[in-house]
Amino acid sequence: MSSSEDHWYRLLTDYANGFMVSQVLFAACELGVFDLLAEAPGPLTVAALAAALGASCHAMERLLDACVSLKLLKVEMRGGRAFYGNTEMSRVYLSRVSPTSQCSMLLYMARTTYHCWGRLAQAVREGRNQYLHTFGVPAEELFTAIYRSEGERVQFMQALREVWSVSGRSVLTAFDLSLFPLVCDLGGGAGALAEQCLSLYPGCHITVFDLPEVVRVAKEHFSLPGDEQIRFQEGDFFKDRLPEADLYILARILHDWADGKCSQLLERVYQSCKPGGGILVIESLLDEDRRGPLLTQLYSLNMLVQTEGQERTSSHYHALLSSAGFRDFQFKKTGVIYDAILARK
Ligand SMILES: C[S@@+](CC[C@H](N)C(=O)[O-])C[C@H]1O[C@@H](n2cnc3c(N)ncnc32)[C@H](O)[C@@H]1O
Repeated sequence: MSSSEDHWYRLLTDYANGFMVSQVLFAACELGVFDLLAEAPGPLTVAALAAALGASCHAMERLLDACVSLKLLKVEMRGGRAFYGNTEMSRVYLSRVSPTSQCSMLLYMARTTYHCWGRLAQAVREGRNQYLHTFGVPAEELFTAIYRSEGERVQFMQALREVWSVSGRSVLTAFDLSLFPLVCDLGGGAGALAEQCLSLYPGCHITVFDLPEVVRVAKEHFSLPGDEQIRFQEGDFFKDRLPEADLYILARILHDWADGKCSQLLERVYQSCKPGGGILVIESLLDEDRRGPLLTQLYSLNMLVQTEGQERTSSHYHALLSSAGFRDFQFKKTGVIYDAILARK
């Protein structure tokens, strides 16, 4: 085999086995490996980890060693025995006690997203999500489907919160939002982005608007900001009157919906927006030729298997926003996963 064939074969093997890497990460999270190591006074042996987590010793050893190769764990040898500990990556992002933990999103990906991706070829044949086949729920009941039980609803809402602990500042400082004292975060979930917005722009007042069940769960299961500058309002953004605001934030909302539904929603936002007000769309932007970034292309396929929507280019959002009446567009690639678009009424 020539060295270039060797290169292609290695690349092919990496692609084919990529799902195993995800599963090692998911399994270690689900078993609580990183949490136990975060709480332990020092590195632990396989036997100690397996006993505490109720797992098989020989299987746990394989999992831990794979984690070491993936830099999710580190290992040191003492007296001929291996002691495992968290790396910087797992300490910061994989233990639940960390304020930047991404565990709930990883568990959501393991339990829901992964199963939907198992039907990717069929989703491409049909051009629609696979919830009916994967979970027995029709596509049009998307958000009922995502929220199949109270536990999953809480987990999904927590999962959605997590990314903003890492990327919230970048998207909220892409533009100067201090011009907008009255803000509405449409589909704002449990209010993580609203909290960040308030910490960056202490003068603003924010209404977090979401479906009644989501607002109820947010109030019951999350420690919401006690601050009176953030309030929650229940409603359906396709049907109910939207709160008055100078700025509407739509973070990861439009990518859930087909163009027709996006236009419907944007027209409603335009009607409610004060003159001179704005709309901040936070999404992962595809390059204009749609050749990248790869992560956004993968997210767009993720929208295919899980929702009615897609990831879009800046000009696609420009067309949707301008046909709803918005003008004065500004686009900002933030360098993190999510980008920002500001337009004015
Ligand atoms: C993908 S999540 C994004 C949540 C949040 N903006 C974020 O970025 O973390 C979509 C949100 O839209 C909400 N949502 C979906 N349909 C809605 C509707 N018809 N009216 C109000 N909120 C809705 C969901 O409950 C969910 O909180």
